[in-house]
Amino acid sequence: MTEPKSSKSEFWSHLAAGLQSRKQANLWRSLVPAEGISATMIERNGKSLVHFGSNDYLSLAWHPEVRDQFLSAATKPKVGSGASPLICGAGPEYQNLVHQIASWKGLDSAVVFSSGYAANVGAIRSVASREDLILSDAWNHACLIDGCQLSRAKVVVYPHADTDALERLLAEHRSNHRFSFVVTDTVFSMDGDVAPIARIHELCEQYDAIGIADEAHASGVIGPRGRGVLAAHAIDSTEPKDKTPFHAERWIQTGTLSKAIGCSGGYVCGSELVTTWMIHHARSWIYSTAMPAAILSAASKAIELLQSMDSQRLQLAATSNQLRNRLLEGGFKTRLDSTPIIPIYVSSPSDALRVSQHLADSGYFVPAIRPPTVPPDGSLLRVSLNISHSPDQLEGLVRALESARPESVR
Ligand SMILES: Cc1ncc(COP(=O)(O)O)c(C=O)c1O
Repeated sequence: MTEPKSSKSEFWSHLAAGLQSRKQANLWRSLVPAEGISATMIERNGKSLVHFGSNDYLSLAWHPEVRDQFLSAATKPKVGSGASPLICGAGPEYQNLVHQIASWKGLDSAVVFSSGYAANVGAIRSVASREDLILSDAWNHACLIDGCQLSRAKVVVYPHADTDALERLLAEHRSNHRFSFVVTDTVFSMDGDVAPIARIHELCEQYDAIGIADEAHASGVIGPRGRGVLAAHAIDSTEPKDKTPFHAERWIQTGTLSKAIGCSGGYVCGSELVTTWMIHHARSWIYSTAMPAAILSAASKAIELLQSMDSQRLQLAATSNQLRNRLLEGGFKTRLDSTPIIPIYVSSPSDALRVSQHLADSGYFVPAIRPPTVPPDGSLLRVSLNISHSPDQLEGLVRALESARPESVR
């Protein structure tokens, strides 16, 4: 036997050294004891804090009708589904939910995965392969990045939301590949900005590329009946092309049931062709146990409820605008968008930790977001708004930020 290059003990030392360097760079992560108290309050490390860290933007995770639906489906004798979907089949709760998603989104069909992560990895990996080109926004969520890598397509990352760069790259690479895909979050998960979907759509038309849009943070929050950014641009419609400027054939849409929908799971939706392809090729769906009925049932109720929440969506956007303006006036570095994800940029991971700790000491939970979740110079505090936050809670947050007075945030 030839000598191995490194020994077992070197492997463990390699892990220990890697963790140590994370610690030294203020990039240490730990799982703290925490429990939700209400849509806007959380107990973390034994202390009650106003919760600005949840993606449950519409408070549907706490909605009594969603909970009742969950509980009534949970009275069935079986808890887990027992097998992967093609083995255990589609129960009434699954069938109901896919119809609900498809009709909400105005599309033919949907497939429900066990998470949004699984939906994105499965969708991208299943449609793209070695001969293909993927253009991927630099700020895309990790599951889009992983799906791109798993596909083995040529992946070219374009600078965030830079459609000029995207056009140049399409012009340069498109003709060398069989199919091309442009992959983007529609609302970016850490910075809360909205992708330039209309221009991306034009470029997809011009260069004959397929768009893959992750509506994780847009579904429930943006567009008519909370249908997302594609719907807000009328891109998602299966209407004939002459009736609408956009066409569903250009886009594959993914999303999650875990954010504004307040439950858990993910989906891919589109034409029958797309969803039939998923059930043949999306490995994260085929080879993973089907979702429990109770959570599917709760998600159906949440999607039913959120469609009539346009006034709450308007209020959420108005609150987001007010808070962003207030922060800018106070000298904080943020950006003007209307989504409920508000970034407050800081100069370093240690600043992010320091301000987050100061806020916790003052009674507010705002997570510190550091690399590798964001680029090396992109540390921020991520404020997530919720329709249940009271004016007093929002005012208190601004005061606590002001009292932090870290030069880095100013
Ligand atoms: C943009 C985006 N897509 C997908 C996901 C994954 O969704 P899930 O948490 O349901 O796996 C997330 C979660 O953080 C996200 O932010």
